[in-house]
Amino acid sequence: MLEIKKADAGTQDRYLVNFDTENLPYEFFDLVIIGSGIAGVYTALSAPRNARILIITKEAIEVNNSVLAQGGIAVSLDQNDSPSLHFKDTLFAGAGLCDENAVKALVNEATENIATLCLYGVNFDRDEGNRLSLTREAAHSMNRIIHTGDATGKEVCDTLVGAVSTLNNVTIREQTFAIDILTENGECKGVLTSNEEGTELKAYYAPVLVCASGGYGQLYSKTTNPEVATGDGAALALRAGAELMDLEFVQFHPTVLFHPDNQNFLISEAVRGEGAVLRNNKGERFMEKYHPMKELAPRDVVSRAIFQEMQKTGSNHVFLDIAHKDKEFLRQRFPTIYNKCLSYGIDIAKDFIPVAPCQHYSMGGIRTDEWGRTRILGFYAVGEAACNGIHGANRLASNSLLEGLVFGRRIGRQVQENLDEIKIREGFKPRIRFVKEWVERDIDYLSMKKKLQGIMTLNVGIIRNEESLSEAMEIISGLKSEIEGVKVVHTHHMELINMLTLASLVVKAAILRQESRGAHYRTDYPATDDQNWLKNLVFQAGG
Ligand code: SIN
Repeated sequence: MLEIKKADAGTQDRYLVNFDTENLPYEFFDLVIIGSGIAGVYTALSAPRNARILIITKEAIEVNNSVLAQGGIAVSLDQNDSPSLHFKDTLFAGAGLCDENAVKALVNEATENIATLCLYGVNFDRDEGNRLSLTREAAHSMNRIIHTGDATGKEVCDTLVGAVSTLNNVTIREQTFAIDILTENGECKGVLTSNEEGTELKAYYAPVLVCASGGYGQLYSKTTNPEVATGDGAALALRAGAELMDLEFVQFHPTVLFHPDNQNFLISEAVRGEGAVLRNNKGERFMEKYHPMKELAPRDVVSRAIFQEMQKTGSNHVFLDIAHKDKEFLRQRFPTIYNKCLSYGIDIAKDFIPVAPCQHYSMGGIRTDEWGRTRILGFYAVGEAACNGIHGANRLASNSLLEGLVFGRRIGRQVQENLDEIKIREGFKPRIRFVKEWVERDIDYLSMKKKLQGIMTLNVGIIRNEESLSEAMEIISGLKSEIEGVKVVHTHHMELINMLTLASLVVKAAILRQESRGAHYRTDYPATDDQNWLKNLVFQAGG
């Protein structure tokens, strides 16, 4: 029987900065949401219109990971498809670690949430019969990905941000950095924030706080994630006493453009779904040697196969070949990819596209139940920031935007059901004070961040082992001790602390998991060990 294993995340300062709520500017809300991606905005739209809601985001509202999602959203709409087939595929990709109850919620509530998106006016591609067009992505047994060309995330985000911006009950504050959750007696009271420079602190008090701040792709130097994905949500949750789960499972997307001037532009899996094949640097197809599903095998399998092929042939990339498709079809179906590649002199209707795997998604995050609740009363997490068990050890393609919708709405509905009680709790100002003696010293956080990203990419990537992980841990510990106790002077410094906190736990989890499973592959433990090893690995600060 596999069990959840609890591990100590070590001692954390409870807060990153000194403050006293007596002296802070503040505002009251019923619900505060950290993050402006699909999960955050849809949670706000799903909450009642008489709830006073604040969305904060550390950059501009349109800067997030959801906007960059190309492929689409998985939903079982084909007449031969069903939520139970979607459930089966999700569990198969998740390699034994999915939470079945959470996955059931995901697949069963997909259709109604997509219908809501259509009502908001999201313009998904449709066939001649005006039905939503369905394509295939890796490890799906059916065509079930709805899309808007190859810019699905942008279309959904633009529409939802447009809708939320018209609501009188929702306030949006950009360039607002969430430093820490304010808690009193183990209950969430709101969030401590600062401006971009870290010079002006402000408290937002609310009985309900939702973390939808995305993942931690920026731990890696090569990632499809935007600069903002520094894992702040998971780190602040940990400091406040929440649990983090499945951190060792980092997804590497198999096909990211490999060009001297750009190595983080995604070439959607949907391109393989439409028939693209992978070729090594001799022009030979190779996926049939690795998996019967070939190019549409689970994402972790394809990434490892490419990695091995690159090693065998001494190359730093392979090729994606969709040149057999009609040029007009490619321009219509994949306009973003077509034009981006063309800007680098690659005509995808004629040329092979050089690609290599790179970091893409964090399966791990803040542990929640299937209602988005964490172990801190009033604190919820959703989207990539959360880990509710739907992805297990390897996320099934196009389940991530869906997760933000299904669980965002579940949180919004709970706010609706409990609004009377939330309104009673709203308006109470807690007295919280944190004082620590800090050392004042300049730190070069940019070069420290680069060093961290370099070692994570090199040693904690697609393939790991005891030696690479121990070396990474040593370097991360060194970086941590360089900034230990140093007074925080800028939000980039706060991000660095958050990144180092998470990186050390990703590595610790990867060391503790002495087997290979899903996206976690260890050359010293290449087999999956269902008999003797652990299920999910859960961290909590201070034991
Ligand atoms: C892609 O378009 O390949 C990415 C889709 C996803 O990450 O689910």
